[in-house]
Amino acid sequence: MWRSVLPLLVGLSPAVLLLLQLPDFTVTQGPHLEDYKYGRQGSEWHDKKPFCSWKCILLTLQWPAGFCQSLNNESLCMIPETINNWTIHGLWPQRAFGCCDCWPMFRSDIQELEAELHEHWPSLLTTRSSFYFWKEEWEKHGACAACVEGMNSPLQYFKISLKLRRQFDIHSVLEAASVTPSCERPYKVSEVKQVLAPHLGQDHIIQCVTDHKDREVWFQVKIPLSHNLTMGCVHHDGDSGDHHPPPSGHPCPPDDPFYYFPIDHQRPQRPCD
Ligand SMILES: *[C@@H]1O[C@H](CO)[C@@H](O)[C@H](O)[C@H]1NC(C)=O
Ligand SMILES: *[C@@H]1O[C@H](CO)[C@@H](O)[C@H](O)[C@H]1NC(C)=O
Ligand SMILES: *[C@@H]1O[C@H](CO)[C@@H](O)[C@H](O)[C@H]1NC(C)=O
Repeated sequence: MWRSVLPLLVGLSPAVLLLLQLPDFTVTQGPHLEDYKYGRQGSEWHDKKPFCSWKCILLTLQWPAGFCQSLNNESLCMIPETINNWTIHGLWPQRAFGCCDCWPMFRSDIQELEAELHEHWPSLLTTRSSFYFWKEEWEKHGACAACVEGMNSPLQYFKISLKLRRQFDIHSVLEAASVTPSCERPYKVSEVKQVLAPHLGQDHIIQCVTDHKDREVWFQVKIPLSHNLTMGCVHHDGDSGDHHPPPSGHPCPPDDPFYYFPIDHQRPQRPCD
């Protein structure tokens, strides 16, 4: 097309040239560029997803021995002596909109919870302090959840998370059903889900990582909750959490056995070698 009109353009000023070319340009590139420049995409987004539109929130609990298997660097994992239980990874609103990293959190905000947080929400990375971990979770997820009454400050958000952790006492539920950590005994997804479903709802997800010996190892449970923190929210497991630094794992394969490794504080990354 341009080739046929090209001879006509000879002698026209650059401004006219630009004008002539514009239509074609707008079809392919224009909308994005314009929207970006004038912020239209932002406002459109805002119309489609009003503030605080999230419906589901995932309480994600991790099993320390499994978590360590997700790290490929031997010197990265650390399980404090006091940690012998499932710990909190995070409380993540799903498809949240209206989050910002504009709500900084300080140590003094959560001072009264610090002992409890160290016990139930420790960093398991040698390279990251627990406070840094909490701060990161708050800024990434908490600030999005904060549009809901009862979660609208760092203190409230961490209080709620700890309360939920107490409510979902996975360790005791499993133990009562003889599902206990072991290097030898593999478990099936169906048998574990059956044990957990009455306590966590049908939609909970059990996640595994593959260890250095290609074993499936259980490391995480995601419990979907509604806005009002009742069980059984229909969720979409999309952009649901931290993808760094550990890989986020995968749902344990339904047909393969997986392991629920014991915690070894001395050799956190090699409990079953
Ligand atoms: C493992 O992590 C430690 C601590 O961050 C670092 O010093 C070391 O270089 C890492 N090793 C490898 C092989 O990445
Ligand atoms: C794990 O934590 C719960 C409370 O959240 C507690 O009831 C249980 O005894 C703990 N289990 C172990 C092995 O520490
Ligand atoms: C909590 O929210 C769910 C989903 O929006 C709703 O079905 C349920 O009735 C609510 N429960 C309470 C106690 O408000």
